[in-house]
Amino acid sequence: MKNIRIAIDGPASSGKSTVAKLIAKDFDIIYLDTGAMYRVATYIALCNGLDDSDGAGIIRLLKENPIAFGHSPEGQLVYTGEVDVTHAIRQNDVTNAVSKISAVPEIRAYLVDVQREIASHGGIVMDGRDIGTVVLPDAELKIFLVASVEERAQRRYKENLQKGIDTDYDLLKFEISERDRKDSTRQVSPLKQASDAILIDTTGISIAEVVSTIEDYARKI
Ligand code: DC
Repeated sequence: MKNIRIAIDGPASSGKSTVAKLIAKDFDIIYLDTGAMYRVATYIALCNGLDDSDGAGIIRLLKENPIAFGHSPEGQLVYTGEVDVTHAIRQNDVTNAVSKISAVPEIRAYLVDVQREIASHGGIVMDGRDIGTVVLPDAELKIFLVASVEERAQRRYKENLQKGIDTDYDLLKFEISERDRKDSTRQVSPLKQASDAILIDTTGISIAEVVSTIEDYARKI
């Protein structure tokens, strides 16, 4: 169990990170939020006036200011170099630009290398869009989480309210659908269920139930 690699993929706000964090805690393994890494790349691009036409420039900045994770009582912290960007990468400007930046092949290749390096010793649960298909195609357990767009928009709306991020529900629902469409139709590593992934629809199901279902699968490996 200690060396297990669990891949959790699915569309925006399907509950991946909440579920993955709880599994990491229960099994005492690492949690890697790969979406946060694409968000940092996007944040760096926006801060430096770069766009998706300059993948090399964005990678150079990522190398100069490496992505790192830390912990606080409130949860995981995300850094680029010395700068804490935990909150900045969740703001609307980053969320609305991240699909474009994460579709740049060189940026994906660079971040996938970093992700594989972090996973190389096993004992990890990773969430994203292409973990089961590209990053860890031989992961011991692959889960594909889905939920209705209405439920996902509701969850994100509540989360944003708690974080004090000003949000319009209908706009949020539209933006989630758009991000799904862009993430699923891009040329490189689109969001797709791996043929050997287990599909779990979380609509109307509690987080605890989803976590225990996945942990039961893991224990059977
Ligand atoms: O999981 P998230 O919503 O924080 O991810 C942000 C964006 O990053 C998402 O719209 C697609 C992209 N992403 C990706 O392309 N590949 C991953 N493995 C993780 C995220």
